[in-house]
Amino acid sequence: MQKFNQIFGEGKHPIRTFFAPGRVNLIGDHIDYNGGMVLPAAINLGITAQVRERDDDIIRMRSAMSEKRIEIDLKKAIEYSPSAGWGNYPLGVIRLLQMTKMPIKGADIFFNSTLPIGSGLSSSAAIEVLTGYVLMTLAGFEVDRVAMALLCQKAENEFVGVNCGIMDQFAVAMGKAGHAIQLNCQSLDYQHIPFNIGDFKLVIINSNKERELADSKYNERRASCEKALSLIKEKYDVANLCEAEFPMIMEQVKDPVLLARARHVWWENQYVHEAIEALQDGDWQTLGESMDASHLSLSNDYEVSCDELDILVDAARSVEGCIGARMTGAGFGGCVVALVHEDALTNFTSYVKERYQKNTNLEADVYVCEAVEGVREL
Ligand code: GLA
Repeated sequence: MQKFNQIFGEGKHPIRTFFAPGRVNLIGDHIDYNGGMVLPAAINLGITAQVRERDDDIIRMRSAMSEKRIEIDLKKAIEYSPSAGWGNYPLGVIRLLQMTKMPIKGADIFFNSTLPIGSGLSSSAAIEVLTGYVLMTLAGFEVDRVAMALLCQKAENEFVGVNCGIMDQFAVAMGKAGHAIQLNCQSLDYQHIPFNIGDFKLVIINSNKERELADSKYNERRASCEKALSLIKEKYDVANLCEAEFPMIMEQVKDPVLLARARHVWWENQYVHEAIEALQDGDWQTLGESMDASHLSLSNDYEVSCDELDILVDAARSVEGCIGARMTGAGFGGCVVALVHEDALTNFTSYVKERYQKNTNLEADVYVCEAVEGVREL
């Protein structure tokens, strides 16, 4: 609070604190925008916002991670600006709230994060959903979480220019403690599945590899899937790529690169179904095997892994007690998710860190995580 007052000066309204979790995707990457099934969970690393309402239409934002101060006037149209950096994520959401004529109010907002930024754990979705939730709550609305996730996805697509799917914003908004979210990205039907993995722990390893050109490569992958779908649609009536049957893909998609992309989408969707069944049956071995298979497909066919992630996955899998590991999220750097027996955790952490450092000269960070509730006021 002292820091808050230092930054923004004293004010008469109380300072309130909100939290939005990051997310890890257990399995099902690059299929949300293809109408597939995904299995993310909100995690106990996230972004907090300390917020104080104002009596005018000014929103001022600061982050503990940057010196940049963002200030806008709600009476004026907000525009994307490269110099706003991280600020464009919340600004996009505010812009959409403005366009939908939501009567939001001015506020001072101070963001802080335990979530590594830009590392594939949805720091952008977290700050988007957090901003939307904060401003709607201050304006006295009860937030429709699914609608908020959709609005934030739209902000990222249209304001920031990343054609992301719905998974991240949905997970941040809809997380449930101790549960993963089984989400059908075509219909948005979802179910919270108890994330009960016995004596195993959910471990996230950050490669700390910078995600170069990740946004443009992401958009490129999405465009390839759209191309493959249009070829299949020339002959078959399918709504999305995940709905296409394997023989349809083989018949209609001849270009080897497009075929590899479509093959990943098809297999990944199968792995998700397999993993969900295994999770519900308490069959950890099969769950881990689905994760391994998913990583190979993302690495070989979808080509969104990188040496650093492959090295981490290999290192993780060579430790006894680790039953599955894969890159998580968009890829091109970022994080690996692994299931590790609790007795093996200490050995796992030191071995993986050491081997990674030797092979890449980079330091990996290891987090043992839990599934938590979605965005909320603390
Ligand atoms: C990013 C996007 C998501 C999803 C993943 C890959 O995190 O924001 O919509 O496509 O990549 O699964």
